[in-house]
Amino acid sequence: MIKKLGIPKEVKKDEGRVSLIPEHISQFTGIADIFIETSAGIGSGFSDEDYIKAGAKIVDTPEELYGISEIICKVKEPQSQEYDLLKPNHVLFGYLHLASNLQLTKKLLDKKLSAIATEMIMDNGVYPLLIPMSKIAGNLAIQKGMQFLEYSSGGKGILLSSISDSNNAKVTVVGCGEVGKSSIHKAISVGAKVTAIDINEEVLNILKSKYGELIEVCKTQTEEAIAAIRSADLVVGAVLIPGKKPPIVISNEDISAMAKGSVVVDVAIDQGGCVEGVNANTHSDPFEIRDGVLVSAIANLPGAVPKTSSIELSTGLQKYLNFLLEEDWLKGYKENKNLSPSLQIHNGLLLSQEVAESLSLSVSQLV
Ligand SMILES: NC(=O)c1ccc[n+]([C@@H]2O[C@H](COP(=O)([O-])OP(=O)(O)OC[C@H]3O[C@@H](n4cnc5c(N)ncnc54)[C@H](O)[C@@H]3O)[C@@H](O)[C@H]2O)c1
Repeated sequence: MIKKLGIPKEVKKDEGRVSLIPEHISQFTGIADIFIETSAGIGSGFSDEDYIKAGAKIVDTPEELYGISEIICKVKEPQSQEYDLLKPNHVLFGYLHLASNLQLTKKLLDKKLSAIATEMIMDNGVYPLLIPMSKIAGNLAIQKGMQFLEYSSGGKGILLSSISDSNNAKVTVVGCGEVGKSSIHKAISVGAKVTAIDINEEVLNILKSKYGELIEVCKTQTEEAIAAIRSADLVVGAVLIPGKKPPIVISNEDISAMAKGSVVVDVAIDQGGCVEGVNANTHSDPFEIRDGVLVSAIANLPGAVPKTSSIELSTGLQKYLNFLLEEDWLKGYKENKNLSPSLQIHNGLLLSQEVAESLSLSVSQLV
């Protein structure tokens, strides 16, 4: 039976991404009816006409889109104004980050729908839909950090790039996975002095052998690590424990000890944040000032470059959407150990141990 797949226009503040780009729509014709809300692709540079040519049908309102569709293919988690549009027959597919969002988790449980957290889809031991967004976010953490360090932003008034050898700015990156590695690469490429901190020694050894004298490495929570955070001009927080709330790796004391006008970018905010007491920001209101330090936590950093991000996202999504379009998708998601961690809610049951632990809820098994 042909399924109905709906692509809503994202409503999160300053979010211009779209989950599927026109180029990738045509492969689903004959397998699915694709509906897209009018102007959903505009922020990424794709018009309604582009989608019509690719075989999608345009609908005028979110009510119509959610009403007609069985699969809701989104970028970001539903926002409060979208809650009433969700229905029990829906399969919701998108970045959900439920471990940091009790309100949404309860809402999705009440709705008795199926929710697939795309950031938890695994393939060959990695998270293929998180990686491209992490690489983009790691780049943007430095790009934004550079801007916040400017005098007019309230920053120290320093350039991250080196002008002379004696004058390198200091960047400390805590959590050196996909986000962290991109931040490190970008910071080193402009000539900043970089310190990398991680819990995993092997990760640090790889970085040391790649960058040699251009990088210092140290294990998390050591005296050396704390000193590197406190003396940095820019700190990027990018730790992850998959599916869970991250640990606090940058404390209030660290922030108080930093020089005024320094910058902290908490990229892990989508999972709840790794900076003590952090509040979520937006692209248009991007930081708060704490003890003279600019602390920024934007949960949709890739939304700043929607065209790049949508192309990457849509390219990665296709394979996993194909599984959903199969007749017995639920059996497929249940039995495939790479896909099952992403099916986090089904028919009123919370299936993710990590989300349950993070939110103090009970976990259930799907029989
Ligand atoms: N804000 C955004 O727009 C955005 C975009 C993409 C990713 N993210 C988030 O960024 C975070 C990092 O993502 P990633 O893809 O780089 O994850 P990753 O799994 O590739 O890397 C996480 C790293 O954190 C390290 N780590 C774990 N606990 C640690 C600790 N206590 N101290 C130091 N290091 C520790 C791990 O060893 C690993 O190297 C995640 O929360 C992810 O959801 C946010």
